[in-house]
Amino acid sequence: MNDSDGFGDNFQKESKYIRNVAPNEPPVRIQKPELYKRYPDSTSVALPSPDKDAGVPLWKAIANRRSRRAFSNKPLSKKMLSQLLWATQGVSARFRNLAFRTSPSAGALYPVETYLLINNVADIPQGIYHYSVDEHCLDELKVGSYGRDLAYAALNQTMVAEANVVFIWTAVVDRCKWKYGQRAYRYIYLDAGHIGENLALAAEALDLNNCPIAAFYDEEINEIIGVDGIKETVIYLAVAGNPK
Ligand SMILES: Cc1cc2nc3c(=O)[nH]c(=O)nc-3n(C[C@H](O)[C@H](O)[C@H](O)COP(=O)(O)O)c2cc1C
Repeated sequence: MNDSDGFGDNFQKESKYIRNVAPNEPPVRIQKPELYKRYPDSTSVALPSPDKDAGVPLWKAIANRRSRRAFSNKPLSKKMLSQLLWATQGVSARFRNLAFRTSPSAGALYPVETYLLINNVADIPQGIYHYSVDEHCLDELKVGSYGRDLAYAALNQTMVAEANVVFIWTAVVDRCKWKYGQRAYRYIYLDAGHIGENLALAAEALDLNNCPIAAFYDEEINEIIGVDGIKETVIYLAVAGNPK
């Protein structure tokens, strides 16, 4: 194998669109999955409406954004958590039966799901939660202290156990794949990048610390949040919370 023949190199080559050449893969019929993941048996945690006038102006937030990895013991308010969630994936416009979100998504297919590890948020017990985008609330998946487990799965990055909240983003791959085939993986990662940057800027605007994380043992995180790692798999994390 030479240095441009690894599976990543081949993925990039084989997922290229080339003019006048049909995409290099047999058509596979995939059932289009639901747009929203539901946890009907879970307890729902209401969130305040986002305050769209809060924080410092956009230009200042862009100029000041940094990855900051130290967090205080002060609880994050539910209002700020709500604001961060809305900034990443919240619904910002409705047109007919479509709901557009604060972050763009290839083909408006929205393959990325958000889970949270809550370590220290006022009025929300520690645990693992799922963000219900269309209802702007949290689904409680399991209550308990999972900070150390998640930090261990993130190559012992202690900020994961210390941050007020950890965003855990997964992809429901077929939501994008039914339309774009293997090229879907490109779009999924691009979608995640937009979401991560929205979180970073929103955190900056609210004077919170934030750091993206891509170093983790995938299957260990998948197990913690209860996804299979194939149809739905973790792709990205980020910590956020009050600065130390
Ligand atoms: C895709 C991606 C993955 C990252 N993964 C980690 C990580 O696992 N741990 C970490 O401490 N920082 C991580 N970072 C943060 C980078 O180290 C940081 O963005 C970089 O040093 C530039 O600094 P700045 O964000 O303050 O501008 C990641 C950033 C990105 C965009």
